[in-house]
Formats: sequence, C-alpha cells, structure tokens
Amino acid sequence: MMTKTNETGAEMGIEVVMPREGGPEVLEVARRDAPRRPKAGEAVVRVEATGVSFAEVQMLKGRYFMQPKFPFVPGYDLVGEVESVGEGVDGGLVGQRVAALTQTGSWADRVALDAKNLAPVPDGLDSADAVAAVTNGVTAWQMIHRAASVRPGQTVLVHGASGGVGTLLVQLARLAGAEVIGTASASKHEHVRALGAIPIDYRGEDVPQRVREISPGGLDAVFDHVGGPGLVDSWRMLRRGGTLVTYGSASTLGDTGHRLKPYLPIVGQVLLWSAMPNGKRATFYYVQRWPKLFKEDLSTVLSLLAEGKIEAHVDRRLPLERAAEALGLLVSGKVSGKVVLMPGLGAESRLS
Ligand SMILES: NC(=O)c1ccc[n+]([C@@H]2O[C@H](COP(=O)([O-])OP(=O)(O)OC[C@H]3O[C@@H](n4cnc5c(N)ncnc54)[C@H](OP(=O)(O)O)[C@@H]3O)[C@@H](O)[C@H]2O)c1
Repeated sequence: MMTKTNETGAEMGIEVVMPREGGPEVLEVARRDAPRRPKAGEAVVRVEATGVSFAEVQMLKGRYFMQPKFPFVPGYDLVGEVESVGEGVDGGLVGQRVAALTQTGSWADRVALDAKNLAPVPDGLDSADAVAAVTNGVTAWQMIHRAASVRPGQTVLVHGASGGVGTLLVQLARLAGAEVIGTASASKHEHVRALGAIPIDYRGEDVPQRVREISPGGLDAVFDHVGGPGLVDSWRMLRRGGTLVTYGSASTLGDTGHRLKPYLPIVGQVLLWSAMPNGKRATFYYVQRWPKLFKEDLSTVLSLLAEGKIEAHVDRRLPLERAAEALGLLVSGKVSGKVVLMPGLGAESRLS
C-alpha cells in the first residue's frame, strides 16, 4: 500500500468509521494522522488482519448491547505486529506478532492498545486464519470447556454451525469427543458436514423433531445465539443434566426499542430455568476478557490452529478500504465462516 503523508510530510494512516445507523454503505474510510506515540503501558500495533463479525452488523443497526455512541471505529479483534511500545513495556515486544480483542477500534491500519491485553501469535500462522480464531475461537472454547464442560460421548447442538463462532464450536466440540448436530441454511450443509456435524436446515425443517430422531435421549448441551421464541425449544431438547448456553440474540436484529430489550427475556428465562430443580442448567455467556484467562484460552486455541487440529474458516480476505462490501456480505448471509479485512492488501487487491 502506498504511504500517504500530510502537509507536514508526516505519515498518515487510515481507519473505517461507522458514523451513524444505516446500511453498510454509510461506512466511511478516513485518512488520519499516523497514531500518536504509545503512552506508558501501551503498544502501537500495525494491523495485519481484523475480523468482520455479526457484532458489527448489530452495531450498524444500533442493536449491539455494549456499543459506543456514533461515530466510532468498529473492529472487534486484530492480529498485527508491534511497532513501538510506551514506558514500562518490555522493548522485546517490538517486532512480535500479537492478537487482541478490542471490541471496537480495530478497523484501522495502526492501533494503540494496552500492552497487557496482547497475546502472542505462533510463528507461521497466517494472520487471517489467526484473527478468525480470536473472538470466535476464545468464545467457542470457553463455552465448550468453561460453560458446558463438554465430554467424550456427549451429543450437542450448535445453532448457526456455518457461522464464525459456529464453525469453531463444531470443531472444538468434535475435538472434545462429542457428537455434534448443527443448524444452518441448506446451502451450507456440505460445509457443516465437512466440519464433522450432522446438519439440520433451521429454515425448512422442524429442528426439535429432527433432533429427537438423531438423539432420542436428548442433548447434553445446546449453544444458542438466536434467542427469541426458539430458546424454549433449545431448553426442552436438553436431557437431564444438560446445559443450555445462550450467547446472543440474532433473531431480534430487526426489532425496535432499547437495544437491551431483547436480552431481558433471555436473562429472565435463564434465571427462572436455573432456579427450577430439574437437573438442567442454563447460562447466558459472554466472552471472558480478563487478560490472564483470555490469553490462556487464546493461546490454547491458536496452538490447536497451528497444529492443524482445528481449521479457521476464512470465507474471504478484503482490503480494509472495502469494509462496507465486507459487512454487506455478512448482512446478505452469503458467507460461510469469517470475513477478514487486511490493511496491507491495498484497495486494488482481490484475494477472495
Ligand atoms: N456472547 C459472546 O461473548 C459472543 C461472542 C461472539 C459472538 N457472539 C454472538 O454470536 C453470534 C454469531 O456471531 P458470528 O460472528 O459467528 O456471526 P456470523 O458469522 O454472521 O454467523 C451467524 C450464523 O447464524 C446463523 N443463523 C442466523 N439466524 C439463525 C437462526 N434463526 N437459527 C440458526 N442459525 C441462524 C447463520 O446461519 P446460515 O448463514 O447458515 O443461515 C450464520 O451462520 C452473534 O449473535 C454474536 O453476537 C457472542
């Protein structure tokens, strides 16, 4: 990518701004002065890859429960190289490849971050593959192992098995020794089957009925990012001792009203179900970001990726400048796996 300079000759960077609610076309690519020198405790990271996720689809509609006020720079996670560090940070970090979960701010070519939140990325791992496993991989790992404690011989249901989190849930559950059933649109069933799951078409089939046929004794765990009325089905499909892990509300994307509104019934249901003496458990899961836990879980997931035990499913890589197109693809439902923005690709490149 050609370096741009401002009137004083200083290098300029780029970032993508989400200025207001709307469709993907409202996104703006902005030139800005190169990032300031890192403050004490910070590191400036040159971004190699940053993920596009359903969270940004929700943010664009003002429906993500923890989003900042418009305008802001979105971007939930990144992989990049440390360029400089501030006072109090080990100088040995400079030149290292790191990953971070930022929640917002990663859709830029350089980002200043708290150095203690950076996790190392194994050598040789492709940046786009690695970033596909940051938020999605850690969320999936924690839900399988920390929330549901999936064990060999169990049967679990993954809703949205073709998506960013879903593809990793399927693989990690398989690796934990479970049989996996996955819901997805029919056009993505081949992909879901290749991951090792039995696909069910959530649009055209009766999901509880199909699950009963496949696993008559019920399920040991259900991972549900859909919410809405189907959450009750997810609960009912559990066998005694089973765990419902609810972690999103994709079905309420088009709702109006306060953005927390869709989550209130979910949390209410979870509390109610948890209080019932029925041997089942329900939990609302949100990815744990405490630096020590996050780094531990991310490094486990990245090692599995580097060893080839799981695969990152990168649907396509696009230059950062094409963020609107990338988000449009996610909105259209035409992707399987992760869409990744790569600042280094340059606006002209096509590497899909
Ligand atoms: N709680 C947390 O910590 C946390 C962390 C990360 C993500 N999330 C949540 O996880 C969800 C997935 O995120 P993502 O980035 O993986 O999204 P994504 O890549 O866009 O995948 C979403 C998937 O949802 C599927 N889907 C949509 N409606 C469905 C329905 N009614 N039933 C079953 N599947 C349905 C789609 O399947 P088809 O394309 O096959 O139709 C798609 O594969 C989002 O709701 C996000 O907010 C939560």
